[in-house]
Amino acid sequence: MEYYPAPGRNHLFVPGPTNVPEPILRAMNRSNEDHRSPAFPKLSKSCIDDVKQIFRTTTATSFIFPTTGTGAWESALTNTLSPGDKIISFRLGQFSLLWIDQMQRFNFDVDVIDCEWGAGADLELLKQKLQADRSHSVKAVCVVHNETSTGVTNDIGAVRRILDAAHHPALLLVDGVSSIGAIDFRMDDWKVDVALTGSQKALSLPTGLGIVCASPKALEAAKHSKSTRVFFDWGDYLKFYKAGSYWPYTPSSQMLYGLRASLDMILNEEGLDNVIARHCRLAEATRQAVRAWGLTLCTKKPEWKSDTVTAVVVPSWIDSNEIVKIAYKKYNLSLGVGLNKIAGKVFRIGHLGNVNELQLLGALAGVELALMEVGYPVTLGSGVAAAQAHLAKQTPLIKSRM
Ligand SMILES: Cc1ncc(COP(=O)(O)O)c(C=O)c1O
Repeated sequence: MEYYPAPGRNHLFVPGPTNVPEPILRAMNRSNEDHRSPAFPKLSKSCIDDVKQIFRTTTATSFIFPTTGTGAWESALTNTLSPGDKIISFRLGQFSLLWIDQMQRFNFDVDVIDCEWGAGADLELLKQKLQADRSHSVKAVCVVHNETSTGVTNDIGAVRRILDAAHHPALLLVDGVSSIGAIDFRMDDWKVDVALTGSQKALSLPTGLGIVCASPKALEAAKHSKSTRVFFDWGDYLKFYKAGSYWPYTPSSQMLYGLRASLDMILNEEGLDNVIARHCRLAEATRQAVRAWGLTLCTKKPEWKSDTVTAVVVPSWIDSNEIVKIAYKKYNLSLGVGLNKIAGKVFRIGHLGNVNELQLLGALAGVELALMEVGYPVTLGSGVAAAQAHLAKQTPLIKSRM
């Protein structure tokens, strides 16, 4: 095992897993403890209660599973739906594709709306389908809020307005894995029935927690759902919630201490609105850099731009994997590769989680060096300068140093 793989810090600019900041690492650096002790429920309850704030919900019930985003998907689907139930979902990138694949493997009847990769959800088609569904055969609409593979953010408020205008009772299930806690997400305002995220994204924790929030309507649906579920069954958790001991099986106490520290940092120290504003600022600086390099975004229209990941299209004579490889091998900079049908055509800059202005500028400088090395005619410093110009105007004083 090599303990000193490269000098200096690793520049982790993939769109998750993200940097784990020192306070979280310190909070997690402890031995195992008895999760059935009289003291443990205090930590459990505070995490279960406070995590709801990053979803902006006071009405939902939260579940913290020892899993990843993929497990959280499974939990959302199997608790609310029965095999054969009709779902409408959009396939517009790798993660929406994988979620749909999971739905099909669970034998749900998925009406897939295929959209161009780089485009947002086709809401006009959704409107037509819901208005035509007079018998209410559609039981759920499933949307990925932020498609991490293409840098596309969908308008969940607009999806809700379409459901309401059609007086359609379908459940609204939303994947917020690369958005919740970083991009504005309003579970209660948008009447989202199930929203989910993973610990390794905006929360800046290690991978290992899948966090699911269920509305009262989703909890009611869970009473009638006939899907087989064991590990992800909300019912088991609810029994333990009633008993005040919270976990049907052994939780990772270290991850819960980490989550507590992450929530303290996001909600109390920086403040969720400031966290969201920081993501917005860093994302816009990144987009300005891409423009200055003369490159384009995978995201087709500004209304779909993502504030957590920027997917950059390279000219056809360049293999984007080469850019990612050089950045990693020479500059200790991790960028995201293009996935599936945009492999080789796109690379991704993640600006998600606990990351600041100067870290981003370092990453952009590294991207310029890698672009130069693959033969792209980049003017060194051009993207960095464009990003700096934006950040100089937009960056506030650090909250704790005002
Ligand atoms: C939007 C989205 N959904 C789901 C997932 C799957 O999450 P995990 O890899 O934690 O299972 C990812 C992973 O990157 C993602 O970006």
